[in-house]
Amino acid sequence: MSIYRVVGGNKLEGELKVEGSKNAVLPILAATVLNEGISIIENVPALKDVATMLQILKELGCSVEYRDNTVQVDATCISSSEIPETLVRQMRSSIVLLGSLLGRTGKVISTYPGGCAIGVRPIDLHLKGLKMLGANIELMGHIVCESSELKGAEIQLDYPSVGATENIMLAAVKARGTTIIRNAAREPEIGDLQEFLNSMGAKVWGAGGQIIRIEGVDKLHNTSHRVIPDRIIAGTYMAAAAATGGRLKLNDIIIDHLHPVVDKLKEAGCVFEIRGDTLKMTAPKRLMAVDTVRTLPYPGFPTDMQAQFMALMCCARGTSIFIENIFENRYRHVDQLVKMGADIKVDGRTAVIRGVKELRGTLVNAEDLRGGASLVIAGLAAKGTTLVEGVEHIDRGYQDFGSQLNRLGADIQKL
Ligand code: UD1
Repeated sequence: MSIYRVVGGNKLEGELKVEGSKNAVLPILAATVLNEGISIIENVPALKDVATMLQILKELGCSVEYRDNTVQVDATCISSSEIPETLVRQMRSSIVLLGSLLGRTGKVISTYPGGCAIGVRPIDLHLKGLKMLGANIELMGHIVCESSELKGAEIQLDYPSVGATENIMLAAVKARGTTIIRNAAREPEIGDLQEFLNSMGAKVWGAGGQIIRIEGVDKLHNTSHRVIPDRIIAGTYMAAAAATGGRLKLNDIIIDHLHPVVDKLKEAGCVFEIRGDTLKMTAPKRLMAVDTVRTLPYPGFPTDMQAQFMALMCCARGTSIFIENIFENRYRHVDQLVKMGADIKVDGRTAVIRGVKELRGTLVNAEDLRGGASLVIAGLAAKGTTLVEGVEHIDRGYQDFGSQLNRLGADIQKL
């Protein structure tokens, strides 16, 4: 188990390129099995979750090469329909393979992914959607989905779930006829999946809106695709620089994806200069508290930025209220921030953060990916040294997090 040793107090200044999006690349990698051929995917971040997905693809029979952030998947010969249990346990989002494997082989066996640190995370909407496309689903210890022929259907999602929208899109690509997904998730990663699928010959329209239409096709072809930049990583580095009163230039951003976070940073007193795919942010010496941070499906404020933004508000001038609407157990970083001197009260989904003058470094424990990033951010702003345990959670979503921050002037060591 590794630990980050963060010496606080350094102002972060400098420039970074935003890496490719984890949440976009995972469903895209799952989608590669739909094509009996080769997919080349560029801008793939070197993350633990990506490595797990590539391992799963290999176990299914794909030949996989990963070099210089480019992945080549040859899915000509799929020899298994079973997703290995150990790998499902390592990465919940392997669940998107249900739709793509079903579309390719007509059968898929997976372990139930179960809950995780941030909540129960059911998959009822995924399974309901696949059933409506004609899959026969048995849940007896394992999930077994089978279908001799998937047929297009009109599916109204009870909630705009990102994973369920992706799973249904993937299963519908080769289904007979038209599928309509209503109340679909609108996250940019869904748009990137649509781009990838269409680049290999699928017919998908509407991603980014609430209604997605998929016309089933018989055959797909070889393709290459570049993954969109990671909006959560961009947001995390902005939060890190803002926590230290710093200045940051980010390259390779898509500003449209960043408005929910940029607007909150503006409210906190940060100033932005945005030109094409670059952004410059200058933070004030002390941030102002923002009134309310309410997590919502895109284009609302992302739940994946809630913890990092809370770390920022700990030392802001005034009181902020956070309302976590997406996951029921996403305040696990709060106790750790309180250990560092933060003044936070939680009641159910609401947290009230009263800004304090300073945080103090101490030993804290990262229990999930974004919560872990928030503790590093708090450590950068704190007086003294913070030891963050549970770095493996952070490595799931950030490529060289410590080294990247050090390039901006942080003092972080991985022990
Ligand atoms: C994805 C992201 C995750 C992000 C989340 C919300 C990936 C790999 N992960 O997760 O980083 O935090 O979107 O933006 O892209 N739900 C159900 N039934 C279902 C599915 C979901 O009740 O069948 C509920 C969940 O418990 C949760 C809410 O819907 O409360 C949102 O979940 P969902 O949008 O599905 O998130 P994920 O796709 O798991």
